[in-house]
Amino acid sequence: MKIGILSDIHVDINNRSGSDAVTPALCTYINNSSLDLFILAGDIASDYTLTLETIEKLETETSIPVLFVPGNHDIWTENHPDLTSWDIYNKLKKHPHNLAGNPYAVNDDWVVIGDLGWYDYKFGSSVYSIEDFNRMRFKDRVWQDSIMAKWDRPAIEMNNFFLQKLKKQLSQARARNIIAVTHVLAIADFTVLNPPPMWEYLNAFLGSPAYGNLYKTDPRVRYSVSGHVHYRKTVQKNGIEYICNCLGYSSEWQDTDDPYIEIPRAVKTIEL
Ligand SMILES: [Fe+2]
Repeated sequence: MKIGILSDIHVDINNRSGSDAVTPALCTYINNSSLDLFILAGDIASDYTLTLETIEKLETETSIPVLFVPGNHDIWTENHPDLTSWDIYNKLKKHPHNLAGNPYAVNDDWVVIGDLGWYDYKFGSSVYSIEDFNRMRFKDRVWQDSIMAKWDRPAIEMNNFFLQKLKKQLSQARARNIIAVTHVLAIADFTVLNPPPMWEYLNAFLGSPAYGNLYKTDPRVRYSVSGHVHYRKTVQKNGIEYICNCLGYSSEWQDTDDPYIEIPRAVKTIEL
């Protein structure tokens, strides 16, 4: 069983000259790589209709299941001002391969669980107060979730909502081994390290140590997958392999703007 893992493909932002170049390139990669399963850890698009369309295309063109969790961009309301982020989250949850509603049994031994996750500011510097973080603004940089993500409760409560959901998924999982997926970060290792002042503040919005701490309590968790921070890193600790492999924005790619070149560099594969 060979699984491909990627996050933050941002098909709308990575759109070149009016057409999505990422989805066809990802289909080609999957079809050339003998993968049995693919996991996308969120930020597929900033419009849920495009997110769903992209998953459909990937599954139709590759004939393998493409499991996903929503990212913060996927639940943004910019293009749907009549909807809340809850409305969008629930529409996405209906997709049978969205882990937020449907943990996926790979076989008798392995199950994949997951959800968006949110943040509780604990990855931010303690020099700031919760009120400071609630403003989601550092000088003239505005954290876009403060405008685009329309929940009905503060970030810390959203974080707890997702944490409780993941706890429930873990307790209900009937497998010897678990892959746990969140869009946000589960460990501080993937935050911006030795941060400049702006990131001492913005690290607060990258995830929560509560997810990593939860996984540590369950020895069945073998992999933790996340995205959000546009890194490509793997860390081994507590008997868990933590994977953060993002495609990110084409403006962040080193020496190419061609997704056919960048996608093979960005995907992480694991074999079960
Ligand atoms: Fe992203």
